[in-house]
Amino acid sequence: MSAAADEAPAAASRVVHAGLSQRYRAVRARTLALAEPLSAEDQTVQSMPDASPTKWHLGHTTWFFETFILAERPSYRRFDPGFAYLFNSYYEAAGPRHARPKRGLLTRPSAETVRAYRRHVDAAMEALLDGGVDTRTEALAVLGLAHEEQHQELILTDILHLFGENPLRPAYRQGAPAPAPAPGPAEWVAFEGGLTMVGAEPGLAFAFDNEQPAGQALVGDFRLADRLTTNAEWIAFIEDGGYQRPELWLSEGWDRVRAEGWTAPLYWERRDGAWWTLTLSGFAPVDPAAPVLHVSYYEADAYASWRGLRLPTEAEWEHAVRTAPGRLRQLYDSAWQWTASAYAPYPGFRPAAGAVGEYNGKFMVSQMVLRGGSLATPPGHSRPSYRNFFHPWQRWQFSGVRLAADGTGEEASAEGFLEDMVDGLSLPQKKVPPKWFYDAEGSRLFEAICETREYYPTRTETALLREIAPEIAARAAEATVLVEFGSGASVKTRLIVEASPQLVAYVPIDISEPALAEAAARIARDYPQLKVAPVVGDFTAPLDLPPIAGRGRRLGFFPGSTIGNFRPEEAGVFLRAARTLLGREAKLVVGVDLVKDAQTLEAAYDDAAGATAAFNLNLLARANRELGADFDLDAFSHRAVWNARESRIEMHLVSRKPQTVRLGGRTFRFAEGETIHTENSYKFTLEGFSALAAEAGWRVERGWRSSDPAFGVVLLGA
Ligand SMILES: C[S@@+](CC[C@H](N)C(=O)[O-])C[C@H]1O[C@@H](n2cnc3c(N)ncnc32)[C@H](O)[C@@H]1O
Repeated sequence: MSAAADEAPAAASRVVHAGLSQRYRAVRARTLALAEPLSAEDQTVQSMPDASPTKWHLGHTTWFFETFILAERPSYRRFDPGFAYLFNSYYEAAGPRHARPKRGLLTRPSAETVRAYRRHVDAAMEALLDGGVDTRTEALAVLGLAHEEQHQELILTDILHLFGENPLRPAYRQGAPAPAPAPGPAEWVAFEGGLTMVGAEPGLAFAFDNEQPAGQALVGDFRLADRLTTNAEWIAFIEDGGYQRPELWLSEGWDRVRAEGWTAPLYWERRDGAWWTLTLSGFAPVDPAAPVLHVSYYEADAYASWRGLRLPTEAEWEHAVRTAPGRLRQLYDSAWQWTASAYAPYPGFRPAAGAVGEYNGKFMVSQMVLRGGSLATPPGHSRPSYRNFFHPWQRWQFSGVRLAADGTGEEASAEGFLEDMVDGLSLPQKKVPPKWFYDAEGSRLFEAICETREYYPTRTETALLREIAPEIAARAAEATVLVEFGSGASVKTRLIVEASPQLVAYVPIDISEPALAEAAARIARDYPQLKVAPVVGDFTAPLDLPPIAGRGRRLGFFPGSTIGNFRPEEAGVFLRAARTLLGREAKLVVGVDLVKDAQTLEAAYDDAAGATAAFNLNLLARANRELGADFDLDAFSHRAVWNARESRIEMHLVSRKPQTVRLGGRTFRFAEGETIHTENSYKFTLEGFSALAAEAGWRVERGWRSSDPAFGVVLLGA
């Protein structure tokens, strides 16, 4: 497919096709089926030079077979010699042609005559294919079918554009193809850099010449979003003035924005305060969870800049799809994905001989490559090496955005903080994941909280652990490696270590590097018999244990009721992942805070000395320090409230007045009293937690409960 909207590729057939004649019939029939919902008038009109009338697509795809296969056969009689002029798209070698912008002025031949032309060519082609053909003709026929499939997509893109010009906003047909629904929040998938293969692998049944020859490309470490950018995310871009801020745009893109008055993706309209759009099934409210469609390269690039991210290169996209095919969603079924790569020949590229050599090669300048496929792409048409290409301003295709970033993510945790802050502050109820509390200052403040009179969990849990550590050690007698999740200062760890002489190694895992390094060094100094291998990492993401953990059975340790920071379904996911990570016959000790009276709970999270308030506000101070935000710390206050229905303490930062905050190049507005939800701390019953653990595949071996204020410790077995 290409910007010229009707260009064809060059042949590269390697393998003899069985059933070519059946395939011919099926592809040709599918084209007619796509035209079926359209009247003769619908099929005649052209909405812009880039788009062609359906009738012209039906004629041109037929012309392709006639011109490149049938015309050279002495027995073939042309249906109408004038059609060679009317339906040639851009092939100089095939002679002069009708001007592209005038395709919509052809009321003759009628739609019916064009169908008769198709039948005429089909009869000749089917007779030819049924009788068997040489490999050159076969290659041209396979190319003609791939060409026709490209036009099948163009029939849909072009008719949608035509209907977009119609104030009645008609539907192509009810129940027409729609993008795949959003599969939940975007996750990053990380890839290590190196040499990778790009291009159609030798031996493929078919690939266009522009995918060849396959060769090597060098990619750095990078990450790709596992799903496409959604409409909701695009609306946040619009609402942050995305279409009014030249600093986000390429110069050519900004010129387009102003010249064409772009304020949103193509087909979007604002009605009664909401965004609507035209789809193949008609005019409908924009679905916030669906991927954004009909954006140009310029818009895709500006959006990525606004997010502080970028678009993937062709080589990155292809490397990702080849090495982690199951991890990336919405690859081929929703929107073509703009890449940051200009459409250029691969080293060693040779256009095919003859007129079909004009298919791809002569367009290799000034266009950008898109990868993947869309809701309108015929099934099976695309592949990992497929290169679609359009001019950077074009937006009537089903084109969308998959974001990329440099690095695998570990080194980019500051970037992760920025992303989480920007994403979280863009939500109707602003929120930030609690893991960002723990920079060096946050970890220090958490220790201060543990010292307060009101914060009972640390005291009661420590007392309980001191009492039960020998029993835990006895039950985990086979375990030799202690793995702690969210180890912080590794204080409670000592109770387990001192009661468990069988332990030979300790793996503390924490997201806060300074706290982790210090705590690990202290443990190594105080317990020389233990090998200590700290892991800086996020325990909600996939983790690997260091080699020393390979030597023995594992005893997991997750104290502090940190598990209460998860929503129940997330806690289930964590427990399941921990079971996999810890392996066969592992044990896991979890500290869980228990439900109790609201007064005790709220006081624990809002102590009189203000330690919890300082801990909560440190999140904003950290954003100021690390991300250059301008939060006025005096203009926010700390709030802790017991939400009985959800069985959780919620921590919020409350805006004391109407204000705006700048962060990551964006402005966030706060009404007076509006809050950022910073933490949940779920409270459990021992029975409730045991059920959750059992559902995640653990056996509950024993639970203990402290006297007031109540706190629980549960020992689980794999
Ligand atoms: C409430 S403190 C508990 C510390 C210690 N386990 C205790 O019981 O005293 C939570 C600890 O978990 C760490 N943490 C929070 N979220 C994390 C995440 N997603 N991945 C890794 N560590 C995390 C924090 O840095 C902090 O050290």
